[in-house]
Order: sequence, then C-alpha cells, then structure tokens
Amino acid sequence: MRDGEQNLMDKLVSLAKRRGFIYPGSEIYGGLANSWDFGPLGVELKNNVKQLWWQKFVHQRDDVVGIDSALIMNPKVWEASGHLEKFSDPLIECKHCHSRFRADYEPVKAGENCPSCGKKANYTAAKQFNLMFKTFIGPAEEASNIAYFRPETAQGMFVDFKNVLNTTRKTLPFGIAQIGKVFRNEVTPGNFIFRTREFEQMEIEYFVEEKDWEKYFEHWRKEMINWIKDLGVNSKKVHEVEIPEGERAHYSKRTIDFEYEFPFGQKELYGLAYRTDFDLKNHEQFSGQNLKYKDVKTNKEFWPHVIEPTFGVDRSVLVVLLEAYHEEKERNILKLPLKLAPYKIAVFPLVANKEELVKKAKDIYNSLKVNFMCDWDDRGNIGKRYYSQDEIGTPWCITVDYQTLEDNTVTVRDRDTMKQERIKVLELSAYFADRLKN
Ligand code: GAP
Repeated sequence: MRDGEQNLMDKLVSLAKRRGFIYPGSEIYGGLANSWDFGPLGVELKNNVKQLWWQKFVHQRDDVVGIDSALIMNPKVWEASGHLEKFSDPLIECKHCHSRFRADYEPVKAGENCPSCGKKANYTAAKQFNLMFKTFIGPAEEASNIAYFRPETAQGMFVDFKNVLNTTRKTLPFGIAQIGKVFRNEVTPGNFIFRTREFEQMEIEYFVEEKDWEKYFEHWRKEMINWIKDLGVNSKKVHEVEIPEGERAHYSKRTIDFEYEFPFGQKELYGLAYRTDFDLKNHEQFSGQNLKYKDVKTNKEFWPHVIEPTFGVDRSVLVVLLEAYHEEKERNILKLPLKLAPYKIAVFPLVANKEELVKKAKDIYNSLKVNFMCDWDDRGNIGKRYYSQDEIGTPWCITVDYQTLEDNTVTVRDRDTMKQERIKVLELSAYFADRLKN
C-alpha cells in the first residue's frame, strides 16, 4: 500500500470509530482479531444498503422473491453442495514461528520474509484447510451432532426451491433472494471489514432454462453494474475480471469478479457465477426429493440452471465509505448517496438558550422525524455542528433562527455545496421528499 492510501484507510478506520460507524469487536477485552461491530451510524448505513438492494432486486421486480432461511442447516446440505469436500483454502505454516497463512497471501507468494516473525521464508507444503465453522447441535459433543454455520446464503435458496415454487407459482425465469450472515474460518482475514470471519451476503439464485443461461448472465452483469452506480462508486475503479477454469469455485462454469481498486490493492468486490444445475441436481441426489421444475406448457421436467449474482454487504459498506470520504480545506465530508446517509436531516436551534427558538426547532424536528431519519444538535456553535454533520454525511442541516419566529422560514444548508436557502417550514417535508425521490 502506498503512503497516501494507507493514510486513507487509517483515516477512515479512525472516522468510523470516532463517529460511531464501526468499532473494533470485543474492544473492552482487548478486541478479537478482525472482528468489528457496527455502531449507531454504521447500522443505519448498512441497513440502508440492504434496503436499497432489496427494493431494487426484490420489490421492484416481478421475477424475484425473497426468503430468510436458517443459518444452521442439516449437515447433509454441505455434503450435497460440495462445501464439506471442496470449500477450502491452501494453508502453509512458517517453520520458524508456526504462523499460518493462505498460500496465495501476497507477501508469502512474493517470497518475502515471514509476515509474522520476519525470518527468512521457510514454509511447509500447502495443505487444504476447510473454511466452515463447526458446532454441535444439542448438549452432546459427538460426531453425529456436528453441524456447520452456513458459509454462503445460497444453499437456503436451493433447499427451499420447491417450497417457493409451490407457494408462489413462479415460472422460469425467476429468482430467489436472501440477505444474511455467513461464517468462514478465513486463514488470513484483514483490511478492516474487507475480509472477516463473519459477514453478510446479499445473494440471488436466478433459475433459467439451460439454453438461456448466457442471456441472463449478461442481464445480471448489467444489473450489477447499475447497482455499483447506485452506491455512488466511480465505475473507473471497478474492473470485471473473467475467472479462468481451475480458479473458479467448484460449482461454477463461468465467473466474473467485479474487482475494486481498494487502497490495499485491486480486489474482489462482488461476483457473478453460472452455477449450472449443479446444486439442485446434487440436492435431489442427496435428499431423495424431486427438485425438478415442470414446464406447464410442455410438461417437461428438468433441473433449472442458475445464474448467481452475489454481493458482500460489508464490502459494499467499505466501498461506499471509501468513495464518500472527501477532505476539503476546513472540513471532512462523507458525500454519501442521499438514500444511504444515516441521517437525512439535522435540525438546530441557532442558540440553545432561547426558549422560543428551541421550542420551534423541536416542533420542526418532531414533525420531520416521522418521515425522515433526523438528528438534533444544540451543542456548541453552528460551525461546529455543520462540521460534525458533514463528517457523518448528513445531506441537509436546518437552522431555526430569529427570522423563523417572524416569517416561519428556516435555512436549509446543503452538505456538498454548503449553499443555504430559505424555505418555508410548511414546505420542508415536500422539499425533502422531492430531493430524496430518485
Ligand atoms: N454464493 C457464492 C459465494 O458465496 P463468494 O465469492 O465466496 O461467493 C460472495 O462470496 C461475496 O461475499 C464476495 O463477492 C464478497 O463480496 C463477500 N465476501 C466473501 N468473503 C468475505 C469475507 N471473508 N469477508 C467479507 N466479505 C466477504
């Protein structure tokens, strides 16, 4: 990482903590490596990302429905999906200090000294290490009670495929979407929330006829590009990378990764895979249940093929923050897309010790917060309040001043331009609704 880029990550991690977006996990106990908690603003930002995604890909489409499946599934699911056998990373161990790394971890690949003890590179041969987290169901810790935390949400959609089909009467092509937590015992997590051991995914399994897979692969490729634009990400920093055979996941016949130029290098943001009929076919074989789709016109039965666009929630939050972070002469700004900003509006009385101003400002705050996420601030001077709202990305600040008491207007100050305009109090709601429409 170059100095400026390291600097940007450091600044972002520090802002995220200082302003309540993201804290180190279990901090009072000295932390837990690579675990992070989303604070009051972080959870709002993350929920806004998830809501925007759900609206775009579930509510606004007639061909996608959502589910929320169990996190711990029958262990046979992972046999059928191939995760028990194949969901692993190559692991090597430093012969000096016994630290373990992924064999493709950059410093190791480059033959640099051990990143942990600094001694000359001398590693064991690579061994495969399964990434699934194990647990036991019930009180007895015996082999027959082993279960796994899901490493992807996708299997929920395959396992519930027949239920969804029967209860919605969807016909091909259609998709099932899910947002939820997944767990992976990553060998080398790091780079803030980029690679962690628990994270959230937003995934769609889109079921099509085999002959149509290329058409829908292309459809979803474009949808993913549009989504990346919705997040306010500079498309010049995103690169589509065709993953060659041998490097693709075991179920995929074609994969494109959408890679982003993170400060720590160009790395995967999202993925798009053609999973063929691999999952449904295997689940039918392992469960003994018929998971075929019956074409109502031809009565033909077959396993649909699957296009899978997959999106990491945490990586989405990270790119949104990286893209939004700006420094100007006297202020830091998070230029978050309006729909993603945790607070849309902050309301201030000009001064905190004038009862009429405070009362009027509170009335405005209370009426706006019914429809908009609002913040209240009466500390310090107006300049400091603007500074702190800019740093958390609040698009508009309203100041209630003496003129308000005379003509029922307020100043509305824009985060990005810092321009202020006077708006009638009665028109505020319509004004913000209009600005947030698109
Ligand atoms: N169902 C397919 C699947 O799980 P994946 O590429 O392994 O594919 C999907 O994961 C997405 O999840 C990635 O594109 C990335 O956004 C996110 N992701 C993967 N591993 C992650 C980790 N350890 N920490 C945070 N996000 C991760």
